[in-house]
Amino acid sequence: MPLRIGTVAVDFPVVLGALAGYSDLPYRLVCRSLGAPYCVTEAMLDRQVLLEGKLRKRLVRLDPADHPVAGQIMGSEPDTLAEAARALDRLGFDVVDLNFACPVRKVVAHKRGGALMNDPARALAAVRAVVEAVPGRPVTLKLRRAFKDGDAAAAGFFRIARGAFEAGAAAIAVHARTVEQKYSGRADWGFLAAVEREFPDRTVLGSGDVMRPADALRLLAETGVDGVLAARGAIGNPWFFEQCRDLAAGRPPRAPGLDEQRDTIYRHYRLACEAYDPRRGLKLLRHFSLQYAKMHPRRTDLRNALVGVRTEDEWRSVIDAFYAL
Ligand SMILES: Cc1cc2nc3c(=O)[nH]c(=O)nc-3n(C[C@H](O)[C@H](O)[C@H](O)COP(=O)(O)O)c2cc1C
Repeated sequence: MPLRIGTVAVDFPVVLGALAGYSDLPYRLVCRSLGAPYCVTEAMLDRQVLLEGKLRKRLVRLDPADHPVAGQIMGSEPDTLAEAARALDRLGFDVVDLNFACPVRKVVAHKRGGALMNDPARALAAVRAVVEAVPGRPVTLKLRRAFKDGDAAAAGFFRIARGAFEAGAAAIAVHARTVEQKYSGRADWGFLAAVEREFPDRTVLGSGDVMRPADALRLLAETGVDGVLAARGAIGNPWFFEQCRDLAAGRPPRAPGLDEQRDTIYRHYRLACEAYDPRRGLKLLRHFSLQYAKMHPRRTDLRNALVGVRTEDEWRSVIDAFYAL
C-alpha cells in the first residue's frame, strides 16, 4: 500500500501528521525508528522561517535520518509564504505543506491557518505562489472539511481542493472536522470518502479520530483515501506505526514491554538534549513522559509521580522505578 506525494515515494500509508508541541525533530526520529515512513513538522509561521535566530534554528532543524519530511508553513500573504517555501526548499525539506487548517483563535484572527478555508481566493493565490516558488518540490495542503457547517462552506472546500490540484499541488490532507469544531465532535469520514470520489486520481490523505492503529486501517478501508495522518493517537505511542504495519500484514500488533518503553523514553531524551540543550530536553521529556504514561499499566500513579519532578535526577528516578522490570 505505498503512497506517492508528487515525486516522493512513501512505502506505507500511515504517516506522522503535524502536531504543534510534538512532531519536532527528536520525536520524528523516534517515530521513524518505529516505522513512521513520512513525517510533517509542527506548523511554522512563515515569518519565523524567514527570521534568523534561535527559534528558526530550532524549528527548521533536520537530520539525515529524518527523510522524507514535509515542512509545514502557515501565513496569510502569498508572497511571504512563497519566500518561506523557498527557504525550506534550500534547507532540504522534501515537501512543502501549507496549513489552511489551524483553528487556534489568534491564528485565525490574523487570517492564517483555518481562516483560509473561508477565503478560497487567497488560499489559491498562496498555493500558486508557493508552487511557483519551489519548482520540482512537491507542495501539499492541510485542509479542514470547511470553516463551519453549511453548503457554501463545502463548496469553498472543493473550490480550494480543485484549484490547488490544477495549480500543481501534489496532495491534500483533510482533517474531517470544521475549523469551528476545533477538536470536538466526531470527524466526518463520510466527507473523506466524498473527497476521494471527487479526486480519484489525486493523492488524498485523511485525518480525524485516528486514536488506535486499527482506526488508521479502518479509515483507509472505509473512505478509500490514499493515506492517513496519525495525530493524537501517535502522541506518546510512537509504536503506532509498527502496530499499523503489523495489522496491515495480518499480524497482531506488538505491544512494547516496559523495558522497551523505558529505553525509548531515554533515547527520546538524548535526542532532545542533542537537538536543543539539556534544560530544554528535560522540560520536553517531563512533558512527553506524561504522554508515554498512557501505555503504562499504572498510568495514574506514574502521572502523579511525574507531575512533582523538577530535576533530571528526580525525573530519572521516577522513570527507573516505574519502568523497572
Ligand atoms: C496538540 C495538537 C497539535 C496539532 N498541531 C497541528 C499543526 O501544527 N499543524 C496541523 O496541520 N495540524 C495540527 N494538528 C491537527 C492534527 O494533525 C490532526 O489533523 C488532528 O488532530 C485530527 O486527527 P486526530 O483526531 O486523529 O487527532 C494538531 C493536533 C493536536 C491535537
